[in-house]
Amino acid sequence: MTEQKLRELLDDLSLEEKIGQLVQIPGWHFEDSAAVTGGDTQADAQLRYKPLAGSTLGVLGAEKLRALQESYMANHPHHIPMLFMLDVVHGLRTVFPIPLAQGGGFDPALAEECARAAALEAAVSGIHVTFAPMCDLVRDSRWGRVMESPGEDPLVNGLMAQAMVKGFQGEHCGEKDRIAACIKHFAAYGAAVAGLDYQNVELSEQTLREFYLPAYEKGIRAGAELVMTSFNLLNGVPASGNPWLLNQVLRREMGFDGVLISDWGSIGEMVPHGYCADLKEAAEKAIHCGVDIDMCSGAYAGHLQELIAEGKVDISLIDRAVWRVLVLKNKLGLFENPFKDADAAREKELVLCKAHRELARRAARETAVLLKNDGILPLNPGEKAAFIGPFAADAPLHGGWAIVGRDEDTVKLKDVPIEGAVYLPGCTLLDNGMVYNTGSYWEEDHEAKNAALLQQALEAAKSADKVILCLGEHRMQTGEAASRADTRLPGVQRNLLEQVARVNPSIALVIFSGRPLELTEQEPLAKAILYGWMPGSEGGPGLNDLLTGVCSPKGSVPMSFPRSVGQLPMSYNHMRSGRPARNPAQPFVTRYLDVPNTPLYPFGHGLGYTEFTLSPIRQDRSAIAPGETLTAKVTLTNTGRREGTATVQLYIHDVTASRVRPVRELAAWQQMTLNPGEERELTFQLREEMLRFPNAQGFASEKGKFEFWIGLCSDTDNGSGFELL
Ligand code: GLC
Repeated sequence: MTEQKLRELLDDLSLEEKIGQLVQIPGWHFEDSAAVTGGDTQADAQLRYKPLAGSTLGVLGAEKLRALQESYMANHPHHIPMLFMLDVVHGLRTVFPIPLAQGGGFDPALAEECARAAALEAAVSGIHVTFAPMCDLVRDSRWGRVMESPGEDPLVNGLMAQAMVKGFQGEHCGEKDRIAACIKHFAAYGAAVAGLDYQNVELSEQTLREFYLPAYEKGIRAGAELVMTSFNLLNGVPASGNPWLLNQVLRREMGFDGVLISDWGSIGEMVPHGYCADLKEAAEKAIHCGVDIDMCSGAYAGHLQELIAEGKVDISLIDRAVWRVLVLKNKLGLFENPFKDADAAREKELVLCKAHRELARRAARETAVLLKNDGILPLNPGEKAAFIGPFAADAPLHGGWAIVGRDEDTVKLKDVPIEGAVYLPGCTLLDNGMVYNTGSYWEEDHEAKNAALLQQALEAAKSADKVILCLGEHRMQTGEAASRADTRLPGVQRNLLEQVARVNPSIALVIFSGRPLELTEQEPLAKAILYGWMPGSEGGPGLNDLLTGVCSPKGSVPMSFPRSVGQLPMSYNHMRSGRPARNPAQPFVTRYLDVPNTPLYPFGHGLGYTEFTLSPIRQDRSAIAPGETLTAKVTLTNTGRREGTATVQLYIHDVTASRVRPVRELAAWQQMTLNPGEERELTFQLREEMLRFPNAQGFASEKGKFEFWIGLCSDTDNGSGFELL
C-alpha cells in the first residue's frame, strides 16, 4: 500500500479501531493450542478489543493462522490484517543450540544461518514477527535467562544481534520466507540484581552505555523492525515507562522509529512495581514513552479511551503509535497478502526438514566447548564406553525458549548409539521436590528408584574402558522465571559422579545446561569436560561427532564459569583494583579468602583435539595517531596431530583514562582451521576508532598508553603495547 493510502486509512479509523491496533491479546483467546509465555491479565478489558486487536502471539500453524486472519479481517471494520507474533528465539520446530551456546561459537555467520532457517519455518507456519534476538549482556548465571543471551561481551553480543536480525529479516522483512525481528529486552535486563527476574537493575549511565546498550544499538542499526521493553526497573524507573530510556536513548539517540512493544504485561506491572497508582496511570506513562503495543496487560485496552477523553493523552500520540503498527504491517506486505508465507504444504515440507536438521547438528557440534581434556577424548574405536546419566537417557535437550520445540523431535545420544556402548540413566534428573519454572518436580520412590539406577550404573562403569557421564539441568531450570541461588548440578547427579569415580576414574563429563554451572567440586573428578549447553534437535548426533572424533570441538566460553556462585556477577572485562593481588601472601589486596579471584573457566577459553601455539606479537609501529593503523601479526601453528580450529582473540586495555577502563576488552577475533603442522600468519589492525568509549567528550578516545594481547583466551599473556598520540 502506498504511504498516501496508509495515511488515508489511519485518518479513516475510529478511535476504538486505533486503540485496537495497540492492543496485543494472548493467543489462547483465539486458539486453544496457543503457546503460553505469560499470565492472563485484565482479560475483560482486552476481550472487548478482541475483534479489533492489532496483533496476537503464541498461535502457530499455516492453516490455523490463515483461518484466523480470514475471519478476523472479515469482521474488522477496515479489514486491517492482524500481526501474528511468536518467540522464535533459537529455532521453531527445528531447535538450534541456545543463543548462549551460539555466542560461544564466535561465529555470526552460523547464527545467521540458524536464524534464517528458523525464519523459514516460522514464515511458512504463518508467523510474521519473532521476539528475537535477545541482546541482554549477562554476567550473573543465577539469572535463568542467560541462556537466551550471546553472553558477557559487548562485541560478541552486538555481532550476534546483527547476524540474527539479518537471518530473520534478510534485506527486508517483506521478502518471501522472512519475518520481522524484535530486539529485546530494552534495556539491561541481563543486569538483574541478584539474578532475579521482573525486579531491579541498578547501573551507572557509564556502565549502561559502555557494556549494555551497544548490542541493542547494533541490532537496531541492522534494521530490526521492533524493540521490546524489559520487565526491570532501570535505576528506579520501570523500563516500560522510562522517558529517558525510551524517548531520549532509544528514539532520539539510537534513531529507532519502528514498533516498540512492551513485554508481557510489563505496562501493567508498573503498578506492582510501585511506579503507577493504577493501570490508567500506567497506560498514560507508557504511551507518553512511545510504547506502541501493550502486550497483554490490558492497560491500553482499559484506559486509553478515557485518557484521551480527559485530555491526558493527545490523539497525536495514538496516531503516532498506530502509524508505526500500520507501517510494519505494510512492510510485511500484509495489506496485499494478509497470509504472507503461510502455506500448509510448504510447512509440512520444510519444518524439521533434513537441511535444517543437518544445520542443527553442525551448530550443536560447533558451539559445544571442550573445557578440559587430558586426552581421554575423543573415544578410540573399539573402546567400551558407558554413557551414564539423565542425558544419556531421556532428559530433554531443547532449550527453555524452544517454546514450540518438541522432545519427540529431538535426537538424543541414546538414539544414535556408538558401537559397543551402553546407555544408562544412572539417576533421576532432579533431586526430589526440586522446582523448575513450570512447577514442582518429584518422583515417587525417589530414593528407591535412584538406588536401583545407581547400582545398574556402577556395574556398567566397572566394566567400561571409559565413562561418559552425561549430566546437567532440566530445560525448565533455565530461561524465564528460573533464577537459581545454587547453580550446581542437582545433588543426585553429583552423587552419581562421586560414586562412579570410585569404580572407574576414566570419566569424561558431558554437561547440558542453560548457564555456566558451578563445577568446582566436579572438575577434579573428570578427565575431560565437554559443555554441550542445550544443543537442540540434533544434540545427540552433534555431540557424538565430537565424542567419536569425527570433528574437533571449536566452541569457546561465552560467559565466565565461576568457581563459586558467591563470585557473581563476574566477567572478564571487569575493572582494575587499586590493590591488585600480585601474590597469595600479600595482605590487604583484592581477593576472596575462600576461592581464587578468578573464573574456573574464563571467557574465550576453549580446547580442541589438537594443540596450537601463537608467536609473540610483531607490530609495525609503537604509536598511532588518529587515522593511522597499527598492524600486528602473529603466527598460529597447529603443533598437534589433528586438524583443529582456533579462535584467535585481540584484547585491548587503555592504561589510564578519564573513566577507568576494563582490564581487557575484546576488540576483534579470527577463526582459523589448520591441519597438523600447518602454520598461518594472522594480521590484526588497531585503529583509533577502536579505542573510543563514553566520556566527557561524548564517545571518544584519549591519548596515552595502551596494552594489547593476541591469544586463545581472555587471560592470554601474549601481549604488547602502543601509544595513541
Ligand atoms: C515473556 C518474555 C519475552 C517474550 C514475551 C512473549 O515474558 O519476557 O522475552 O518475548 O513474554 O512471549
